[in-house]
Amino acid sequence: MKVTLTDGVASKGILVVGLAYEDGKKPSLVIESGDLALETKPLLETLLRIGATGKADEIIKIPAPGFQLLVFTGLGKAARKYPHEFLRRAAGAATRSLVGNEAVALSLPSPDLQAVNAIAEGAVLGAYTFGEFKGKTKGDQKSPVTSITIHTSFANSPEAKLIARRAITVGEYTTLVRNLVNTPPSHLHPVSFVETIKKAVASAGGEKASLKISVLNEKQLKAQGFGGIIGVGQGSANPPRLLHISYTPKKAKKKFALVGKGITFDTGGLNLKAGLGMEAMKSDMAGAAAVCAATLAIASLKLPVTVHTWAPLAENMVSDTATRPGDILTIYGGKTVEVLNPDAEGRLILADALVKAAEEKGLDAMIDVATLTGAQSIALGTRTSAVMTNNEELSQQFLAAAQESGEAFWPMPLPEEMRPSLDSPVADLANMGENMGKMLVAGLFLREFVPSELPWVHLDIASPAYNETGAFGYTPEGGTGIAMRSLIHFVENASM
Ligand code: BES
Ligand code: MN
Ligand code: ZN
Repeated sequence: MKVTLTDGVASKGILVVGLAYEDGKKPSLVIESGDLALETKPLLETLLRIGATGKADEIIKIPAPGFQLLVFTGLGKAARKYPHEFLRRAAGAATRSLVGNEAVALSLPSPDLQAVNAIAEGAVLGAYTFGEFKGKTKGDQKSPVTSITIHTSFANSPEAKLIARRAITVGEYTTLVRNLVNTPPSHLHPVSFVETIKKAVASAGGEKASLKISVLNEKQLKAQGFGGIIGVGQGSANPPRLLHISYTPKKAKKKFALVGKGITFDTGGLNLKAGLGMEAMKSDMAGAAAVCAATLAIASLKLPVTVHTWAPLAENMVSDTATRPGDILTIYGGKTVEVLNPDAEGRLILADALVKAAEEKGLDAMIDVATLTGAQSIALGTRTSAVMTNNEELSQQFLAAAQESGEAFWPMPLPEEMRPSLDSPVADLANMGENMGKMLVAGLFLREFVPSELPWVHLDIASPAYNETGAFGYTPEGGTGIAMRSLIHFVENASM
């Protein structure tokens, strides 16, 4: 991917500009061509005749003299200053619609550096396709846009280079997350997940970039007492793993632990899920993908923060070796859990990883990311992820970073009165509690494995990780890459 910022005149290629609407009796449109300030009066007439509305996610392409193509991307209601996320989405919707073209220039309102950043990010994020398994038709597959030019008067500012560099990095690692999520379980299991991340670590610079990767296999996991990962993974022919990436730059202002749920496929185990719709459970490793990719992005951006990242990886399958309802597992560190429901497997592998991650001395905070509960979408819908915490201040910091990244996260409580529902008559805990508020019960379960003095947030990204309702803005169908940008931005804020 190539990203260039320029304050020059428009070239003859494809140009994307914004289109907004003004409220009133007559339909009224406003062309927002940013710092290029195109002479556009004559075009408004044409746009009205076409039936253009200027609403978000509307893309209108017209042949225009002097250009290969003039593209209008909807910005919504005309404003003096557009929210950064509107710009990000408008830019992404445009590049997404221009798949098959190589180079695209955009001129959208960029009154401040964050606006330029949002446009660059959106344009890069929209330029994604997943054609890997298209077989015979692969040759006919259209490639995403690979060269993006952004018109802005900030092109020569000292920050411009960093904005371009950052957008490329965010795009590269969002692609990694989306590819991992979209890759089917026939081609992605714990071992191949590890191989993919190993390659990514190497191409991010490996030890030269202060990155190290280590892996525990099933024998080591058993010997060292990771009963959650073993218990969930033992029903599968594809053995489990625990992946650890460390990023330890020479100068570090803070130290964080990241933990991500890595179920490469969730059948529900002996609590078998219904077949129809189960294919979406290839997304059950989206948390692991997000934390691994975020770590590599943080290293690529050379942020002065130490990060220890843990991805417990397992496949939750049905077989004569699968964990049964009623089985008791001993989590790393010694707590026992009665498995009432083998489909509540994410919390079991995360428990092991949270305890392990918290062994690291001097941590400032720990963040886990998981496609943990179906209840997330019942509470917050398909696009908004949940934030639960044992520390309000950390939660506020994360929410601020998410807001600036344009990712939708919302705080959710961990109600104390629900905690006793996780008690078990035969073990320290059960892996299932009361029926109502299942997302919060899962959060309360995880909290049992986090030292109470360590600031921690838990992110439930179950539904937002995998888009089944059609592309929008810069978000494609399938893997979305959610949580990674917020994690990067959280670390950026913490390193300032
Ligand atoms: N991976 C699922 C959660 C999920 C559901 C993610 C839908 C994405 C979309 C998780 O392992 C699960 O099965 N959770 C159960 C927990 C229950 C058995 C306590 C759930 O939410 O139904
Ligand atoms: Mn499950
Ligand atoms: Zn799961």
